[in-house]
This record gives sequence, structure tokens and C-alpha cells, in this order.
Amino acid sequence: MKNQFKITLTTSPKQKPDPKNLTFGKVFTDHMFVMDYDNENGWHDGRIVPYAPLELDPASIVFHYGQEMFEGLKAYKTKEGRVQLFRPDMNAKRTNNTNRRMCMPEIDEELFVDAVKAVVDVDKDWIPEGKDTSLYIRPFMIGTEPKLGVAVSNTFKFIIILSPVGPYYEHGLAPTRIYVENEYIRSAMGGTGFAKIGGNYAAAMIAEKKAHDMGFDQVLWLDAKEKKYVEEIGTSNAFFKIDGEIYTSSLIGTILPGITRASMIEVMKDWGYKVNETRFTIEDVFKAGEEGKLEEVFATGTAAVISPVGELFWEGKTLVINNNEIGELSQRLYDELYGIQTGEREDTHGWIVPV
Ligand code: COI
Repeated sequence: MKNQFKITLTTSPKQKPDPKNLTFGKVFTDHMFVMDYDNENGWHDGRIVPYAPLELDPASIVFHYGQEMFEGLKAYKTKEGRVQLFRPDMNAKRTNNTNRRMCMPEIDEELFVDAVKAVVDVDKDWIPEGKDTSLYIRPFMIGTEPKLGVAVSNTFKFIIILSPVGPYYEHGLAPTRIYVENEYIRSAMGGTGFAKIGGNYAAAMIAEKKAHDMGFDQVLWLDAKEKKYVEEIGTSNAFFKIDGEIYTSSLIGTILPGITRASMIEVMKDWGYKVNETRFTIEDVFKAGEEGKLEEVFATGTAAVISPVGELFWEGKTLVINNNEIGELSQRLYDELYGIQTGEREDTHGWIVPV
């Protein structure tokens, strides 16, 4: 590893959770990675320290104007005990894309990946080994300069925390019920939809709450201008299998460029599927459903992995997909992806990076 970091180990290790009862993102490991930025020194003082609350000036920019970003990736332990990551270089690249949009300092990609590897290595005993579990890695960056004028922060912190996780949805991998949102929007052209920032998720909470209150698991977002083109599902990208072909929204600036999305497109192409990255409407989807051509719908994401959709609700109409059962393709993709990530299946694309 090119970059080396100072390590301070905790003197009071925590009890590890039972892997059978893991949900998503509620338990955190013993250590975290922290690095500082200022204009004079650039990124400096990368270190691994015991997991603990941060001390920040209450006037820090992040608290007032939301100058921040985050990423998400996972570490897995193979049967043989090897620790491995899935495409961390893609997270490093996406970090810099986000940061350019948010006027935040870029991070050298190798430094990003080395920091992830170093902190995962220190807490590798926290990687759960049960079925459908992994160690979720959450790198994030915040503007820390104390000032109330709206202007780019001159100081930042880059932090990585780790959380042993199970499935993202409480009901595991059972098909989800999705509410097609036709009032609120997630992202407009020229906005920040492609960037991985907390603001996108904060602004989406009202729609998610509305959907939850009505008994749905998530929302499907439509485009901001005409509210007719399909964009993404909650915290993940959306795929539709219609008459044997695959459809997913093209990356036109309003969609998060998911790493699982990109990977699954490659896998499906390898398997001979025609994958259409295009603009298509919710009306097209319902029409295909009514004609019996909508075979599967699923969402992809680091947290969600492959999450089958069992039901879509749009303007009073309900569309049940594949009898509310996990589709053959969704299951096959899940098995392939999780198989590659956990070393059970061959990594023919060179996506796995050992720690
Ligand atoms: C991920 O899939 O890693 C995400 O960032 C989604 C998150 C908001 C739970």
C-alpha cells in the first residue's frame, strides 16, 4: 500500500452483534478513519482512531449549508478468510465527480482506496459471515469551516465509518411495494441528482415518509419536468424486464450512477440480454404490465444489492409484478453479484480488490 496511516487502537472494544439479527446501518465498529484538509496542506494527517463522536464548531458550514458528500461500498470475508472489496476504485471516482459539483476538494483515488483498506483491515473481525451479510463502508466528507456567510468551506474532514449489515429492507429480500411519486421530485436537470450528497436524500424524505405511511417500502421517482419518465427507486437504480429486454434510465444528470447498476448491466450483457439505457415513461411500464409483458422489476444499489419489486402503485392503479415473487433474473443477478463479492463465484471482470 502506497499510503500509510497512524493507527490508535481502542482500549474498550465493543461487543460484536449476532450476524443472524443484523439489519442495516445501526451498529458501528471500533474504529474510524479521519483525514483533514486545508488549502495550505491539502489532505493530510490520515489516521485510524477509536470510533467516537466528533467535536465540531457549531458554525461549521456542513450544519448550515450542507456542504458534504458520502459514498457506500462493502467488504466481504470469503470462506477461506480472505477480506475483499467490490470495485472501490469506482467509489473513488464517483467521490471526485460529486466533489467537483459540490466545490469540495478531490481526493487522490489511491489514497481513497488505501484509506478504505486500512480501516477495514483494522476492523476485519467485524465482517459478519452469515448469509446476506457484509461490512458496509461509509466514507463521507464535510465542510468544517466555521462561518455563516454562504461560501465554499476552506477546511474539510474525510471520515470512514464501518457497519456490519444484513439486508437493507426489514423484510429481507422479499419483493417490495413501490409508490410512484407524482407530487414531489428528487432531481432536476442542472441539479445534483448524479452526485452522492446528503441533500438529495434529505429532500426525498418527505416522499418516502408519505409512501411508508401508506404502507409502501419505497418511492419510484419520475422526472422533474414532465413527471412521466422513470428515474430511480428510492436509494437505488431501477430496472424493468419487458418482453425479454432490459430497460433502465440513462444517466442524464438526474440519476445516481450506481456501481451495482453499471456492474449488473455488464453481467446481463454477458448473459446475452439486450440492455436499453434510455428514457421511458411510467405509462410504458403500466402498459407493458397490462399487456402481460412486464416480466420483472428490480432495484440495484450497494445497500439494496438486488431488490425485487412486487408491486407498483401509480395514480390509483396497482400493478402486480411476477405474482409478487422474486423473478428468475433478479435471483440470478443477486446470486451472481453476492457470489462474486463473497468469493463463491469467479470474478471474471476483475472487480474484486483484496484488503
Ligand atoms: C448505498 O447503496 O450505498 C447507498 O448509498 C444508499 C444509502 C442511502 C442507504
